[in-house]
Amino acid sequence: MDDGSPDTETSLAMLQRQATEGVDLVCATPHYYCRQNDIPTFCSRRDAALERLRAAVPVQLPPVVPAAEVSYFPQMEEQDLMPLCIQGTRTLMLEMPFSDWTDLQTETVVTLVLDCGYQVVLVHPERFCFSGSNRYKLKRLAELPLGWQVNTKSLLCWPTRHLALELLEMAPYPLLGSDCHNITSRPPNLKAGREIIRSKLGMDFLKQMDENAEAAMDGLLV
Ligand SMILES: [Fe+2]
Repeated sequence: MDDGSPDTETSLAMLQRQATEGVDLVCATPHYYCRQNDIPTFCSRRDAALERLRAAVPVQLPPVVPAAEVSYFPQMEEQDLMPLCIQGTRTLMLEMPFSDWTDLQTETVVTLVLDCGYQVVLVHPERFCFSGSNRYKLKRLAELPLGWQVNTKSLLCWPTRHLALELLEMAPYPLLGSDCHNITSRPPNLKAGREIIRSKLGMDFLKQMDENAEAAMDGLLV
């Protein structure tokens, strides 16, 4: 589904690699684009893909929980977004627009958290820091109880490492994402990312991040 794993074989190889890295639960986050599917259609496509995968996953590999990377769309706060949250939680993985954010767009994040009661995780905030305006808005959003999920690759690459670490320190609830799509160009990589966090920000910081991840999975981030 989406631009992720091309086949079941690759999915199994990714799960195998993740198991060796100490991962014991995987959230599958195909993109949700409102222009491509309505929410029920997206969920039934995702259910069908997950059913095929689950039939092939041996019990010793990490279980896969359905979720979504929800691309911002206008008036999203008026929809029931629960089917797009990490299953069994109110945790919503939100991808903001790849442009200078408008006040309306950042206000929507505020509404999703404070009025709708979602636990919002902003995914890869580092990809939006291309403008001073977005950096300023991110700083304002740091006043909200949000998860900020930085992608491991941003920590592994020198040009983006400083920014990734800075954002993790700025985040109300820092989280780490693998962004894994396959086992070649975008492989599972959490172990390497965790090692950088441990060495640059310390073991206590890493432990706090693990607690944040557990809280996000339990629906208790806020
Ligand atoms: Fe994304």
